[in-house]
Amino acid sequence: MNIAPDLKPEDIAEYIASQEDKGLLRFLTCGSVDDGKSTLIGRLLYDTKLIFEDQLMALEKDSKRHGTVGEEIDLALLVDGLEAEREQGITIDVAYRFFATDKRKFIVADTPGHEQYTRNMATGASTADLAVLLVDARKGILTQTKRHAFIASLLGVRHVVLAINKIDLVDYSQARFEEIRAAFDQFAESFDFDSAVAIPLSARFGDNVTQRSPQLAWYEGPTLLEHLESVDTATAEASGPFRLPVQWVNRPNLNFRGYSGTITGGPVRVGDEVVVAASGKTSVVDRLVTMDGDLPEAPAGQAVTLTLRDEIDISRGDVLAPVANRPDVSDQFASHLIWMAEQPMYPGRPYLLKIAGRTVAAQVTEIKHKIDVNTFTHLAGKQLELNEIAFCNLALSHPVAFDPYEANKDTGSFIFIDRMSNETVAAGMIWFGLRRATNVHRQALDINKAERAALKNQRPAVLWFTGLSGSGKSTIANALEQKLHERGKHTYVLDGDNVRHGLNKDLGFTEADRVENIRRVAETAKLFVDAGLITLVSFISPFRSERRLARSLMEEGEFYEIHVDTPLEDCAKRDPKGLYAKARAGEIKNFTGIDSPYEAPQTPEIRVNTVGHTPEAIADDIINRLEADGVLERPLDWHI
Ligand code: ADX
Repeated sequence: MNIAPDLKPEDIAEYIASQEDKGLLRFLTCGSVDDGKSTLIGRLLYDTKLIFEDQLMALEKDSKRHGTVGEEIDLALLVDGLEAEREQGITIDVAYRFFATDKRKFIVADTPGHEQYTRNMATGASTADLAVLLVDARKGILTQTKRHAFIASLLGVRHVVLAINKIDLVDYSQARFEEIRAAFDQFAESFDFDSAVAIPLSARFGDNVTQRSPQLAWYEGPTLLEHLESVDTATAEASGPFRLPVQWVNRPNLNFRGYSGTITGGPVRVGDEVVVAASGKTSVVDRLVTMDGDLPEAPAGQAVTLTLRDEIDISRGDVLAPVANRPDVSDQFASHLIWMAEQPMYPGRPYLLKIAGRTVAAQVTEIKHKIDVNTFTHLAGKQLELNEIAFCNLALSHPVAFDPYEANKDTGSFIFIDRMSNETVAAGMIWFGLRRATNVHRQALDINKAERAALKNQRPAVLWFTGLSGSGKSTIANALEQKLHERGKHTYVLDGDNVRHGLNKDLGFTEADRVENIRRVAETAKLFVDAGLITLVSFISPFRSERRLARSLMEEGEFYEIHVDTPLEDCAKRDPKGLYAKARAGEIKNFTGIDSPYEAPQTPEIRVNTVGHTPEAIADDIINRLEADGVLERPLDWHI
């Protein structure tokens, strides 16, 4: 089918030209592990005759080794490329395949259906025109099918096909097909898809994939391939105003300064007036340099190096746009978030956010609502679990340029990256910027931290005690404060039990509440350090992520993480408040070390062993360290 029969040499040029003009449909397939996705894609490739002879031979060999369908060729093996995947029996990454018919070219993203792999589905869907949702005719629509439909709609996929596979296993039953279709129509209606079509098929036997089947004589609609060839995707191709997120500043020599990246909305022409979204600086496009030479005009999707008539300050991550149609710039916005990590998301926890080439620190400030993918109703929630989708408010460390996702998928989407593991943990789609706080500006004060501290003859610092309940944090902090006080130092102790009676009395001991507990006390400690105080913080602070947040709020050298490293058994033996006994009896839930985790510091500034050492001796050791670091005296170069 991909090679026209009886082609005369003189027709070849024309044939090639006609191939190039053919439209392109990008689609993705999604479904649960055993729904037969890989078999379906294999079938499409096989039937469109794109399997090369040698691949076919290899396949016959492989089928004998790994196949799950006896002596027949296992089409799934065509797409399950990796040996590891074959052995696990599931597909684990997005694989893009290319095939063509006389009418269209196709790129299909094969995305795994295993619950954990929503991330891959989101990756595949962000560029797709159409999503094929696979279900097993015996099982019908699952929660996962709805989740995938919802993600497809969030990501702006305009067309969906419900492929009701394994229809052979329900005896090609029309009644079963109608039943599943009715359920599909009902939920698909709530999304604003341009088309949503159900097709009965058997990928294994090829019924209704590319060829009609006598067994499905009752079915009057198109085969899957006919539908893919004819679905109208014209509206999906429109692109918004010109945007160029700058990936790097290209300065090979002093005479050339270009801004390189891929245009995500367009076109842009030489002579157009453009603006740097964040700074508002303007200039005029001088050249549009590409691999194939200069262009007078460059469309969306073009990789380009753009030069300007004026030297203005532009760096990586800046977005260039038309003066008359600028993206929003804000450090707060509302967006949908698809959570893709095993570790839940807690509001207030810091993550890295990557948008259009820029990476900034970010946190969810509020989960407005979670979405139940079965009923599409809104739910309240304090945290987000794997695969959950929510509408959230976000706050960023710096303003970024963005568009609503609806207007531009590139400048309107972002990912969240875990600061510890560097993994992508969420995908987000921006709805709108939030400007609530733009009338609150920082007030410049005439007396600064150094001056406040100099008057006290000390350097401000945070002594952050972390450890299990009963480990001795507060006892040591108390002894240390006494000693500092005797030396005339200005101190304050923020103690978990005390702060939880006032500032944090609305918080309990769930992970989400602990994250917020530590975020607040870290911000408070920052203010105290700004006041010039030596601030002692005594909180279990069980999570690395929040201790790191606290550290990041302080200046270099100001933060001392002190791990009070008393073994759980010793804490439980001491049990000063009788809490371990209660926790072990099940009377207190979420107790640290019992049924709530404690993540010990890996490289604390100070680690103390309380077994066999008095609090006084430990406090003396800490004093010695502070003295050696110069915390206890006024630095020579500070003036007041
Ligand atoms: S943190 O985990 O959020 O840092 P924080 O230090 O504020 O905890 O509070 C811990 C103190 O609360 C403990 O020393 C103990 O007295 C008390 N407490 C009550 N319930 C719990 C619990 N479930 N887990 C830990 N501590 C608890």
